[in-house]
Parts: sequence; structure tokens; C-alpha cells
Amino acid sequence: MTTRHVPVAIIGAGPAGLTLSHLLHLDGVESVVFETRTRKDVEETVRAGVLEQGTLNLMRATGVGERMEKEADIDEGIEISLDGHRTRIGLTEHTGHHMAVYAQHEYLKDFIARRLADGGEILFETTVDSVIGIDGAADGDVCTLQYTDAEGTHTLTADYVVAVDGSRSQFRGLILEQEGAIRARHDYPYAWLGVLVHAPKTNPELIYATHDAGFALISTRSEGVQRYYLQCNPEDTEEEWPDERIWEELHKRVDSEGVTVQEGEIFEKSVLRFRSAVTSPMQRGRLFIAGDAAHTVPPTGAKGLNLAVADIAALAPGLIRAVKDKDTELLDQYSDIALPRIWKAQHFSYWMSSMLHAIPGESPFEAGRRRGELRSVLESEAGRKYLAEQYVGRDLPTFPDK
Ligand code: PHB
Repeated sequence: MTTRHVPVAIIGAGPAGLTLSHLLHLDGVESVVFETRTRKDVEETVRAGVLEQGTLNLMRATGVGERMEKEADIDEGIEISLDGHRTRIGLTEHTGHHMAVYAQHEYLKDFIARRLADGGEILFETTVDSVIGIDGAADGDVCTLQYTDAEGTHTLTADYVVAVDGSRSQFRGLILEQEGAIRARHDYPYAWLGVLVHAPKTNPELIYATHDAGFALISTRSEGVQRYYLQCNPEDTEEEWPDERIWEELHKRVDSEGVTVQEGEIFEKSVLRFRSAVTSPMQRGRLFIAGDAAHTVPPTGAKGLNLAVADIAALAPGLIRAVKDKDTELLDQYSDIALPRIWKAQHFSYWMSSMLHAIPGESPFEAGRRRGELRSVLESEAGRKYLAEQYVGRDLPTFPDK
């Protein structure tokens, strides 16, 4: 029996994997996507929900934006609240761009539907057990993947393998075995409790609220479903946050003139831990990593999905050229192209997080300095513009505004 061959094997059907498989297909390069979870799991897991202009442009330009266009909440600004006084950051006013609140699982549904409609192959409930041959440098060398599904264990060969299997990536280790490879990490002394609520909108735009009692974020999912977050301790469990405590803290941290947090049935609660990590390089021979498999950002500013999509926008053209023209010059620059943007997003997420969160037990000096920093940004035209530029994502070279 001959072993089946595909140009590109993609491990993981998250935002990075599905976007890559779609972009490759549009340029005539076929791939197979492997995903350990069920399709239902992928389509229902709750994650963040902000799409930067670059991500929106990619969806629109590649024909996946139709439902997003109808259902997403397009926002031209955000509000930052300091002790009940709110300042608007005009994203569009300062940058000419906007963002959209559209849940990550909706993004995934759209890409899965499109890949399947285009005849794409997504193997759900299938685990890649091993990848060998990634260091093969000669033309014609291939990688061999062994994978297991309900029917048993199989093999497949691929010219290139892209591991986009999330923050606990199984394949990142192969990259880190290389001499000089590193994973730079940072932990934060706080976390978020995220809730989904059946309630009307609290405010037309997102509110990032900083308060002595801790940070809170008012976001949305639809007219009738709201997404709220509260700063909590990293060790907290959902049981320590009964509904009454959630409402008391949200009102305390967010309510201000003209804004009262809208209450309703809480139907989802989970604790999100804060971590930063960057792996470099993001390539070893024929193996590439992207998205959360390569880097993690804390949720403040919601850069995670956008960064995954930006990685793919950097990787796809190199892969296409390598497969079609057997020219790997662009592909071999992938880490150098992607990493500067990743570090900028890492800085922005760290900066927003540390400026907006009270550190448990922080000194009066540190608390005062932090507020001084936030006031300096909010009261300055240049400060608001800087924040707006970083928030919408500055580098949008691949897919122009439509
Ligand atoms: C969300 O809606 O999940 C969200 C929005 C903004 C953030 C983070 C998360 O900064």
C-alpha cells in the first residue's frame, strides 16, 4: 500500500489552523487538518471575542466575512473607567480603523463551514502521535506523520508540518530541542473570572474598569448575551464566586454615571489564568509553530486570536511559494517576520494588564504610580492615540481595508 501524501499537514483546528488551511486552498495548495477534539467541542468552547481590523480584512478579502458582517458588533471606541470616571478612546477617530466583537467560536464555525464547502479535509477526533523527518533538507525529503482515529493508526507524508495545537502544544518541544531555541515566560499575580449572562447590553462600547477592588471588563456577545470579567486571584475557583458576589463586585467596580451593569441569568463561569510566553524561533526545518502553540498573551486587549491570524498571514505566502515553486527563501524568514509583531502584542497585553490591575498587596507607592500612569495616558491626546493604535493593531499590510 502506498502512503498518502499532502503538501501541508496542519495539526489543530483552531483559528490558526483553519485560517491557514483556507489561505492555502485559495492559492491551490491542499492540506489536511488534524484535530483531537470533536467538531462540536471546537465550535462551542467559549473564548475571547475581539477581532482586529487586520483579522476583519482577512475574513472579508477571502470570502469568509458574510455572517460576521451581519452579526458582529462593530465598535469605533472603547471606554476606560478609573474610579467611576470614564474616558472614551476613539479607535476610529485616532486610527481610521475599527474592531468587531465576534466570538472566537463563531469565527471557527465560519471557517469550518467554508473549508468543508470547499472540499477541505478536517479530521476531527484524530490525534497525531508522531512526526518524523522534519530535518530533511534535500528536495524531495518529506515528513511522516503517524495518527490515530476511531478506526486505528495510519501514516501520511507531508512536505511541511504546521503545529497549531494550542498553548499545551505537543510539538513545540521539537522546536525547543534546537540549539539556541528559547521560551521566554512571564506569570501574573492575577486572573479573570469570566461569565456569560442573559441580559441586555450594559453599554454600547466595551468598558475596561480599574478600581481599588480590582479590574472589571464589560464586553458583549449579542443583544441578549453579555460577557463580563472580574479580576480574581489565580487560585480562585468558580465555587468561590456565587452569583451575588459577582453582581456586588461588578456594580462596585463598573457602575458610574449613565452606566449600571445589566444583570440576568449567569449561564457560564470560568477562571482564566494570565500568562505570557514567546517561543523562538518558530521553525525547525520542515516544522512550523503558530498561534498559541508558539506564544501566549494574557487576555487583556484580546490579542490572542488576532496574533494567531497574523502569524498565518506571515506563514502562508512562504508555504505557498515553497510548495509551488520549491523556493523556501520566504518561508525561512517566517520567524523573523512574525516575532517583532508578537513582541509588540506581548508588550501591549502586559502594559494594559499591569496598568489596569491592582496587584494584591501592592504598596501605596505602586498603586499611586499605576494610577498616575493611567491618568497620563487618558488625559493626553497622544496617549489616547497610542493606546488606540495598539488596540486596533497597527500592522495591516496583508489585506487592505475594504
Ligand atoms: C471578550 O469579549 O471576551 C473580550 C473583550 C475584550 C478583551 C478581552 C476579552 O480585552
